[in-house]
Amino acid sequence: MEYKLITEDRYDDVIRHLRDNFFADEPLNKAAGLCRRGYGHRDLEHHSLETLEDNLSLMAVTESNEIAGVILNGILHPGDIETSQKKLELNDDEKFKKIFRLLYTINLKDDIFQKFHVDKAFDVRILSVDSQYRGQGIAKHLVRHSQDIAKECGFKVMKADATGIFSQKILKSNGFEVLLEQYYNKYVDEFGQPILNVESPHIKLQLLYKVLE
Ligand code: ACO
Repeated sequence: MEYKLITEDRYDDVIRHLRDNFFADEPLNKAAGLCRRGYGHRDLEHHSLETLEDNLSLMAVTESNEIAGVILNGILHPGDIETSQKKLELNDDEKFKKIFRLLYTINLKDDIFQKFHVDKAFDVRILSVDSQYRGQGIAKHLVRHSQDIAKECGFKVMKADATGIFSQKILKSNGFEVLLEQYYNKYVDEFGQPILNVESPHIKLQLLYKVLE
C-alpha cells in the first residue's frame, strides 16, 4: 500500500470511493439514512471537495492504483464553524441538518483557538477505508501520515470529530485526547426522543485533539 497526497486528478476517484463507502457507512450518515451506497450527496460532496482544496488530504493506494482509503484534512480558522452553522439553517436537507447541527454544537462548546493559542487548526474531517481493505491498519497509517504533514505545514494542533468507536480508538492510539463528548442517546428532540438512532457499538461522538510538538 502506498500513501500519497491527493492531487486534483484523483478528486473524482475520491468522490467515487466516498459514495461507495463513507457516505453510507459512517455511523451518523447511516443513522440518518443520509444516502444509499453508490449514490452521491450534494452537500457531503461539496464539503469533501472544499476540504480537498486545502491540499492536506491523503490516500492509500493499492499496487493497481485503486483507492483503498482516504483521510480528508482541512484547515479550520476561528469563526468557520459559526459561519457554517448559519449556512446550515438555510439547507433544505433535514437529515444532513440533524448530523451537522450535532457536530457544530459540540464544536462550539469550547474554543480550541483560544485554548491552544492558535489561529488555525488541522481538521481531520473524513476518515474512510474501502470495506474490502478494513482491519489492515490503513486508517491508522493515514492518521499517522497526516500528523507528519500537519507538523511539516507548521500546525500546532490537530482536531477531529470522531463519530464511531473505531475512529475514536484509531485517533487515541495516535495520541489524540478527548476534549468533549456527546452521548447519542442524550441528543434528543423536544419529546425526549433521540434525534439519531446510532447503531451499536457506536454510543457517542468525541471531539479529539492533539497538540503537536
Ligand atoms: N471491528 C473491530 N475493530 C475494528 C474495526 C471493526 N469494524 N475497525 C477498526 N477496528 C480496530 C482495529 O482492530 C484496530 O485496532 P488495533 O490497533 O487494536 O488492532 C484499529 O481499530 C485500527 O484499525 P484500522 O485497520 O487502522 O482501521 P480501518 O483501516 O479498518 O478503518 C474506519 C477504520 C476508517 C473506521 C473504517 O471502518 C471505515 O471507513 N468506516 C466507515 C466510515 C467511518 O466510520 N469513518 C470514521 C468516521 S469519523 C471521521 O471521519 C473523522
